[in-house]
Amino acid sequence: MSNYLLPQLLLSQATVDEFIRCYWPLKPFFVSSAVERFDSVFNRSYFDDPINAITRLECPAKLVHQNEKGNCTYTFVPNTVAATAYRMNGRSVCLNNVDRAMTDIGLALENLISELKLPLHVRTSTYCSAYISGQGKGLGKHFDNHEVFVLQLTGKKRWWINQNENVSFPTLNHSAGDPLPQRPEFLQLRGSVSTDMPEEAICIDMVPGSVLFLPRGFWHTTEAIEDSVSLSIGVHVPTWYDLLVTHLQNRLLRFESWRTPVTKAWTSEKDALIAIDQLECMLRELPKDAELGIPEVIISHFGILQ
Ligand SMILES: [Fe+2]
Repeated sequence: MSNYLLPQLLLSQATVDEFIRCYWPLKPFFVSSAVERFDSVFNRSYFDDPINAITRLECPAKLVHQNEKGNCTYTFVPNTVAATAYRMNGRSVCLNNVDRAMTDIGLALENLISELKLPLHVRTSTYCSAYISGQGKGLGKHFDNHEVFVLQLTGKKRWWINQNENVSFPTLNHSAGDPLPQRPEFLQLRGSVSTDMPEEAICIDMVPGSVLFLPRGFWHTTEAIEDSVSLSIGVHVPTWYDLLVTHLQNRLLRFESWRTPVTKAWTSEKDALIAIDQLECMLRELPKDAELGIPEVIISHFGILQ
């Protein structure tokens, strides 16, 4: 097995080059071809029998619950319980961290990080999950806070996708209709969030061998037209914010003053004011402490110092 994932997913090195130049990581990309090409990367036969995959693969199983509005929540359950819920009622099951149970997929994810020219530490937040759904089941309108590649292995699944007009590059996942996450970017939401996909949403039918790249934040819904097994690979491309936070952490944690526990800031108003004074004083020293003019951690991300 070659383990190199992108050329097999996207058909050829020429398509990979085009994908990285024209799509990655901002525009959706869809391609459909023979499912057998996945065989050079991982052992697809594990998923031929979904019930066997749920019970035999040593992956945590989550059962998907869908309310009347289509919103979904997940509950971790024993794998035997998940297998029964799928067998009896076609309930959607998500197998987490398939890449830890299948070493070929784990190696392929490492190669994917390299093929996408991302720093090695991105591997720690990169995952592969298997979604196993009975006919008619799926996920309501939601978005994810990271980039996703979807590989359809068996059956047919319909996706509706649409650019997120409400918020760009969200830092948390969110389902339409749920209370908004407590994050600054959601305070500046554009327009109201409907639980229905808009008319201009794009419909994509995923069949065995189809691959979809979905940028972070894109709204999407899914519905299994037939019993369906697919893999989702999630990649968290670092943001400028991540780079700055990493830089500050590497700089500030060298100083005892910044590592000192804060104990009394919440005991009284007077203590809170003293703590604010101290923090302001430390912030005035921050440019010196953090050597903000020399962001070497950022430069090293690009391999310039290596
Ligand atoms: Fe999703």
